[in-house]
Amino acid sequence: MDFEYEIAKRLSQITHVEIEELKNYIEVPPDTTLGDFAFPCFKLAKTLKKAPPAIAEELKAQLTTDEVISQINVVGGYLNFFVNKIAFIQSVMEEAIQKGEDFGRSNIGEGKTVVIDYSSPNIAKPFHIGHLRTTVIGGALYKIYEFLGYHVVGINHLGDWGMGVSKTIAGYEMWKDEYDFSVDPIKSILAIYVRFNQLEKEDESIKERARDAFIRLEKGDAETVKLWKWIIEISLQNYKKIYDLLDSHFDSWNGEAFYNDKMDRVVKELQEKNLLVDSEGAKVVMMPDNMPPCIILTSAGTTIYATRDLAALLYRIDNYHFDKALYVVGSEQSLHFKQVFQTLALMGYEEYAKHCEHIPFGLILDEHGEKIGSRKGTAITLEEIFGEAIEKALKIIEEKNPNLENKEEVAKIVGVGAIIFNDLSNNRVKDEIFDWNQILNFAGETGPYLQYTYVRTQSILRSAPQISSQIDYEALNDQEAIDVIKMLSNFTKVIVSATEKNEPSFIARYLIDLAQSYSRFYNEHQIMCEDKTIQNARLMLTKVVGSTLKTGLGLLGMKCPQKM
Ligand code: ARG
Repeated sequence: MDFEYEIAKRLSQITHVEIEELKNYIEVPPDTTLGDFAFPCFKLAKTLKKAPPAIAEELKAQLTTDEVISQINVVGGYLNFFVNKIAFIQSVMEEAIQKGEDFGRSNIGEGKTVVIDYSSPNIAKPFHIGHLRTTVIGGALYKIYEFLGYHVVGINHLGDWGMGVSKTIAGYEMWKDEYDFSVDPIKSILAIYVRFNQLEKEDESIKERARDAFIRLEKGDAETVKLWKWIIEISLQNYKKIYDLLDSHFDSWNGEAFYNDKMDRVVKELQEKNLLVDSEGAKVVMMPDNMPPCIILTSAGTTIYATRDLAALLYRIDNYHFDKALYVVGSEQSLHFKQVFQTLALMGYEEYAKHCEHIPFGLILDEHGEKIGSRKGTAITLEEIFGEAIEKALKIIEEKNPNLENKEEVAKIVGVGAIIFNDLSNNRVKDEIFDWNQILNFAGETGPYLQYTYVRTQSILRSAPQISSQIDYEALNDQEAIDVIKMLSNFTKVIVSATEKNEPSFIARYLIDLAQSYSRFYNEHQIMCEDKTIQNARLMLTKVVGSTLKTGLGLLGMKCPQKM
């Protein structure tokens, strides 16, 4: 039974406000002793032209309790409802049992397209910790939107053009005989890039070689283009190892180079719309509100990052007709995206510009609060980070459960999951603290804790008899079980709110709350007990919680082992 609908229906009969609108206002009070559902009357203050407490009193006087709603109280401007507990338990449990792994899924996104630009590393540079957050947050958003029925297009806008990759090309041409490319070519390619940058610090003139390589690349010189393609391929092979670990999904790998032949259109459209202004030899678009102008052509006449992003936007409009375009990129690029979206609006694409959104996130700091890796000097690569996480997880598992089969596989799931969860457990704009002791703490609010809670549910179910589908819901009428069931009833809402704010942390937080509330239930009540009717109902609750944890963790990009 949809209790929110039932409450809204009764309120609608009195107020004549649409049921759907009223239903949207209904909340679940954090303190369950106040009620099961609450209606905030201030939402109707304008329509009814009355103060919220007066509205609450009036509504209460006209409502009656029945077999669905057992009690109605006025608390300030709120109308608090208690519903029939057994009916509530039954309705949530039946929905969860029937939907199984699809519990929480919805189709509110049906017919809508969301484009998510994420990860997008720069070719030839190491795939380092600076790209962890965009990859993890973008990957989670991908899965979350998809679960709500959206058509999702994941785009890896690779930085595969310009001076970065040209430096590697120039370095390769100079030093290729000094390196081995037969075993782990990415290592040699990265070493060349680093060496070029070091040399450049001592000898500026070396940059000329990179410029020359870039000119050849732009002209389409066959040898240079071949080398460029090879470097991209080697780099992608390396990135894909990380994407496999994280289960990241991309539908398009169109990087910056893809837009080379699509830049003229941007310049032409801007010119036609009289938006291009000369400024110190460059061509720019003026911005409102004291925002610095958006540079389209440099004084040397070349296009830049913003030009390319505009070309990409026009392409995405034409090809995906998106309802939302998200850019999961660090906050240091905030101004860039403001300028790009503003330019798009000035070009007449306001409808699309309105639905473009930069999704920024905080830094990753070490346990001393310093930018991570700053002590080491060079950036830590993602391969190193995940390697270390898996190794540390393996050590813990070996201590805790030395006889476990396929320890390596479990260590991979736990180590990778720990890093993902740490990244998603706080609001994304907050800086993330990267502290190994916290990340892998099985008892903290961590990924391993959630996976461990899941494993516990599975081990209970393995050792128990088959669950009968004849469930006596009276058997779950205790405070701890009801708290768990209330959490379960909120699952879809939480997922929807995660998309409204593009905040996967809402789901992370929810899963911690669910696991903790299940643990309270588990500590308070014997699941395997004398009374087989009670035992059966508690086993079913355990099964539903396990399945919900698994679904929720899956939305964050994490897997669950069966044992650990
Ligand atoms: N390659 C860029 C970087 O590593 C990120 C690209 C983000 N996406 C975009 N469409 N600009 O900083």
